[in-house]
Amino acid sequence: MNTKGIILAGGSGTRLYPMTAVFSKQLQAVYDKPMIYYPLAILMLAGIREILVISTPEDTPNYKKLLGDGSNWGISLSYKKQDKPGGIAEAFIYGEDFIEKSQVCLILGDNIFYGKLDFLRNALEQNKGGTIFGYPVNEPGAYGVVEFDKDGNVLSIEEKPKAPKSKYAIPGLYVFSKDVVKIAKNIDRSPRGELEITDVQLEYNRRGKLRVELIGRGIAWLDTGTPESLMEASTFIHAIEKRQGHKIACLEEIALEMNFISLRQYLDTVNNLPNCSYKDYCLAVVK
Ligand code: DAU
Repeated sequence: MNTKGIILAGGSGTRLYPMTAVFSKQLQAVYDKPMIYYPLAILMLAGIREILVISTPEDTPNYKKLLGDGSNWGISLSYKKQDKPGGIAEAFIYGEDFIEKSQVCLILGDNIFYGKLDFLRNALEQNKGGTIFGYPVNEPGAYGVVEFDKDGNVLSIEEKPKAPKSKYAIPGLYVFSKDVVKIAKNIDRSPRGELEITDVQLEYNRRGKLRVELIGRGIAWLDTGTPESLMEASTFIHAIEKRQGHKIACLEEIALEMNFISLRQYLDTVNNLPNCSYKDYCLAVVK
């Protein structure tokens, strides 16, 4: 099934102020790359090649400057401005013309995953309505929280509950059928004035079409919401890259590995990069 991808990279980023006074959160560095490289890498590794980036009116030009039309990586990138941060579920309304009749995978631009992505590839193949993921964390109350029974039926979904009913947070990575546009248009704004992603999930569940897949312990899902968690994410990426000698979320390398581009295209792109350790790495990979 053809899946299109959306990266939501807007929001106000106030929790990272003053880092975000000029550049938005998802442009901040996570060790050696802008944050948005990581969710983009996840979509590419899942085989998704048509991707819409949604951001604020001020920041969208910066994303265009950074990522371009995607042709260097054999993908197609388009852009849409969200007038103001009216909720994650608005992504599907802004994305209506882009989604058309496809299944859609939404990833939040500040969510970083590391590990084997079979859980996502399987979800893209098997999704019938909506698929969300459950990831155990120590402080689930900071996230959407899913409670489920032993057969995997969803019992409740709550956004940032004071008394979480399970330890399973819902990461910012979702797979939905094309119906998601209609669903997002029909949910009500929450008391904080947003179209909540949890309400979209609840509607799929009400229709008996929501699955929750647990993400195993082999996957790292990192938070970047505070200066401390951002630094920890950088430290994590640095530790793995240093130990293995492989870069995480090197988009050129992923494009080549996924056969999105030929070796010739890869070398053309890489040779045009300014002299830096990123370029050295890209050249070394194909030696
Ligand atoms: O990270 C996973 C969590 O993300 C989920 O568990 C929650 O259910 C979900 O609501 C969300 O929680 P956050 O507290 O992280 O939501 P936040 O409002 O910070 O928005 C997440 C990202 O999406 C953030 O980088 C900014 C962007 N965003 C958000 C809104 C509300 C937009 O681009 N536009 C928006 O209108």
